[in-house]
Amino acid sequence: MNTRSHSNALSPIGVFDSGFGGLTVMREIIKALPHEDIMYVGDTARCPYGPRSLDEVDSFVQQIGSWLIDHGVKMIVIACNTATAAGLVHAQQTFSVPTIGVVEPGARAAVHATINRKVGVIATKATVDSEAYAHAIRNLDAGITVFSTAAPRFVEIAEQGLRMADGPIENFTAQASHVYIRPAFREIAKDYLEPLRRAEVDTLVLGCTHFPLLKTLIGGVMGHDVRLISSALEVSRDVSEILRRQDRLADDTHMPHYEFYSTGDNVEEFSVFGSRVLNMPLASVHHLDFD
Ligand code: DGL
Repeated sequence: MNTRSHSNALSPIGVFDSGFGGLTVMREIIKALPHEDIMYVGDTARCPYGPRSLDEVDSFVQQIGSWLIDHGVKMIVIACNTATAAGLVHAQQTFSVPTIGVVEPGARAAVHATINRKVGVIATKATVDSEAYAHAIRNLDAGITVFSTAAPRFVEIAEQGLRMADGPIENFTAQASHVYIRPAFREIAKDYLEPLRRAEVDTLVLGCTHFPLLKTLIGGVMGHDVRLISSALEVSRDVSEILRRQDRLADDTHMPHYEFYSTGDNVEEFSVFGSRVLNMPLASVHHLDFD
């Protein structure tokens, strides 16, 4: 058990992901809790996590979580489905602060949304192989049929779009940018999603925190009738509820401070691409080495 935490209500919330995807979760936490400080780690040097073994990703979760606790966070959000599938249980057993992942909240939202009880899940290979979503959904409603598909190229597309965009990926009405509406991307999306359409799922879980960036592309293939579920909103509600019940919310006069750490060498690039996801400048970005 990590016992070095001296956190209090003014301590930051720790959020991490393999790269930029977790920023889709961070932006919902900011909307729900605009007075909280947040410390974000993007493990860009080791991204993608999706093709790695669950054991290896679990060791990354231990490393990053321990670092965040040493830096005084009051809770940890594992804002990556792959890292949640690989390391949440171990993290909860060893970390000294409340730690939540993104799989259970996404599963819960899907169970609430489905009417025909056919739910699709798209995620990285590691997340699909772990069957974390199938278990989480069936734990809540054993009558739901889950269809899971690994969509590793969506991570590539999401990252490519971040490089190609010339501004925020989403506008203020949360419509995803047209940077992702390209014939080549649509063909890839059709390959992944056609089997789920044929299975007649009425709800599709975006089981990777990169995928909300592609919701216009994915929604375009799946059609208007299919509900797209991202865990981010649900996770932000859980964070609020945990901190409220533990009486650890920051004061509502507090001016929030956001700090970003990237394990990649190019901190400037992290700052530019990150600002496209978060829709705000990333003022304080540092390099972090886990040697
Ligand atoms: N953002 C990660 C997730 O939610 C996936 C990206 C990766 O493969 O590293 O699973």
